[in-house]
Amino acid sequence: MTDHLRLGVNIDHVATVRNARGAGYPDPVRAALVAAAAGADGITAHLREDRRHITDDDIARLSAELTVPLNLEMAATDEMLAIALRHRPHAACIVPEKREEITTEGGLDAAGLHNRLAPLVGELKAAHIRVSLFIEPDARQIEAAIRLGAPVVELHTGRYAELDGAPRADELRRLADAAALAAKNGIEVHAGHGLTYDNVGPIAAIPQVRELNIGHFLVGEALFVGFDGAVRQMRDAMDAARG
Ligand code: PXP
Repeated sequence: MTDHLRLGVNIDHVATVRNARGAGYPDPVRAALVAAAAGADGITAHLREDRRHITDDDIARLSAELTVPLNLEMAATDEMLAIALRHRPHAACIVPEKREEITTEGGLDAAGLHNRLAPLVGELKAAHIRVSLFIEPDARQIEAAIRLGAPVVELHTGRYAELDGAPRADELRRLADAAALAAKNGIEVHAGHGLTYDNVGPIAAIPQVRELNIGHFLVGEALFVGFDGAVRQMRDAMDAARG
């Protein structure tokens, strides 16, 4: 097993800025190509039910133009399954989605949604799309992912990112324990949400974590140092933490 920690760059919020004015710029596909050239190992995009940022056309263009793997974040719906099967991205990450939320709040209830998720996971796997489930760092959810046959889980780091001091240390321990439990059961571990240069280190240092997906902070930081510079600096922060 290689120790390279992959960086998936999420470009959703390049599209948020574009859509704020209904203009054709900034182009998320251009950002994806810049990120790949700067060292991103993959590109992540969330096609939301309300198309508030990434659009169907963005997914079509990313599928055609990217030279690094595309990770499609999607809700567990028949519409999104059909889109995934049409474009066949390298990976699909199933996320919970609520229309009124600002961002993906909390992980997927893989345990409670077993019957809804089982056929979806099966169809994606049959199409050779690597399936991951975006879950809280919680043993019950990992056991549900095992029952579903998910090859990958992405652990939600949102709570960790919001906390400070002892509560953050507790949440980091939950993430590390969840990563160890998943890996022990043969599940590849990813993590993401709310990660920045300042808080990425302890997550990157969890040995079982193979990939981080990071977006919002990088798009903001790009205003000051460019998207290329922001991706490179995140890569350096991850590598430094990994030792
Ligand atoms: N991973 C998943 C599954 C997500 O839904 C998101 C947010 O779209 C991210 C990672 C990236 O989070 P952020 O934009 O806060 O870096």
